[in-house]
Amino acid sequence: MKLAVIGTGYVGLVTGTCFSDLGNDVTCIDVNEAKVEGLRQGIIPIYEPGLSELVIRNYEEGRLKFTTAASDVIPDSDVVYIAVGTPQSDSGAADLSAVWKVVEDIAPHLREDALVIVKSTVPVGTNAKVFEMLKKLTGRECHCASNPEFLKEGSAIDDFMYPDRVVCGVRNEFSEEILQTLHAPLLRTGKPILFMSPESSELTKYAANALLATKISFINEIANLSEKVGADINDVRIGMGHDQRIGFQFLFPGLGYGGSCFPKDVRALASLADSLDLQPKIMRAVDEVNVHQRASLVRKIDAYYGGDLAGKKVGIWGLAFKPKTDDVREAPALELLRYLIEKGAEIAVHDPEAMENIQQQFGDKIHTYCKNEMEAIDGADCLAINTEWNEYRTPDFNKLKSKMKAPVIFDGRNLFDLGVVEKNGFTYYSVGRTP
Ligand code: UGA
Repeated sequence: MKLAVIGTGYVGLVTGTCFSDLGNDVTCIDVNEAKVEGLRQGIIPIYEPGLSELVIRNYEEGRLKFTTAASDVIPDSDVVYIAVGTPQSDSGAADLSAVWKVVEDIAPHLREDALVIVKSTVPVGTNAKVFEMLKKLTGRECHCASNPEFLKEGSAIDDFMYPDRVVCGVRNEFSEEILQTLHAPLLRTGKPILFMSPESSELTKYAANALLATKISFINEIANLSEKVGADINDVRIGMGHDQRIGFQFLFPGLGYGGSCFPKDVRALASLADSLDLQPKIMRAVDEVNVHQRASLVRKIDAYYGGDLAGKKVGIWGLAFKPKTDDVREAPALELLRYLIEKGAEIAVHDPEAMENIQQQFGDKIHTYCKNEMEAIDGADCLAINTEWNEYRTPDFNKLKSKMKAPVIFDGRNLFDLGVVEKNGFTYYSVGRTP
């Protein structure tokens, strides 16, 4: 099939590349010329394991192309995916201006039998609006479907190639058949493709993200309780998880959820419910707990030093909002960095992938950008951990202790065994556990 994918952000690039890898003829379209030129040269604007190789291979083999000229590509396309960003607006609702612009741009060029698919995360009712808008602009009823994505940063290729399910919101059999054909190679493991109305499909995406976010805020609240009552959240989590109705996934306590999806989607869902006079209590509480949790490392450090961090050297491991990504959007590390800068601490940071993104935001307000994690703790008064990169999990504690000025660790991700750090003589603060 011939596909046009509009938007080469995280979702569009992964979707377009994976569909090309499955043998489709895909053109990714973006308004940003420099980005398009870079992609043609194999320069991938985000870090995502496996993506670079896949882009380069499919581009070289001619199945994947990049352009800024939508009008050249749309007339020839069987399927047009809309995968542009839907950032949070000031009110908390999703900003859909990029979606409307794309609809206007593509309408004059769409073939009558083309299927327009909205991949971007959009509020319920958006697909219907796209349908109406296309009708007005083209004078006919266009085929228009919803197909939300469930990719996780850091494992996006695998999530795409081996989905738990594919959700499609359709209005007619024609759209259903195209979506079925397009996704058939991904369903050979027996996982389902689910057809429903566009409204149900749009709500499924938000509801899934919101429930996962709820699990995280819930376990963080229990973790904070654990700290006060002398329980160990790890034992509690495992004790709960063995109940098959609960399970183990998304119950790791930490510094709250970050990234470009959960914070924005929880607020957008709450904002939608608000606009319908539904007073969304759970969503608001999930967001509030998360905002509070994101500052939990700051509170612990502040309490330990009585707010006096002037001249103290803080070594930081992990800046990305989670491992295997360079994404620092809504990352808890940002909060910690702002606090430490305000307090006049000396800051040394390390992250395997996210250093550039942090350097762009903080520049020389951060004193040292380190090549490895050991450099970051050299002479440090304490170590603060924001991201659970695998390379941080088994440090040589003796070396750590000998290099640090004081053996103090604030761990927002529970990387270490309490017994091990204690045996090695560290003062250790983690989440939901008390030594
Ligand atoms: C999330 C969803 O998991 C995807 O299914 C969805 O497609 C995507 O949003 C999206 O809407 O685009 P992502 O934000 O990439 O994916 O990352 P997750 O692995 O879900 O992690 C989100 C946040 O939750 C991270 O900050 C992570 O540290 C935190 N988290 C996750 C926890 O604190 N505890 C957990 O047990 C799991």
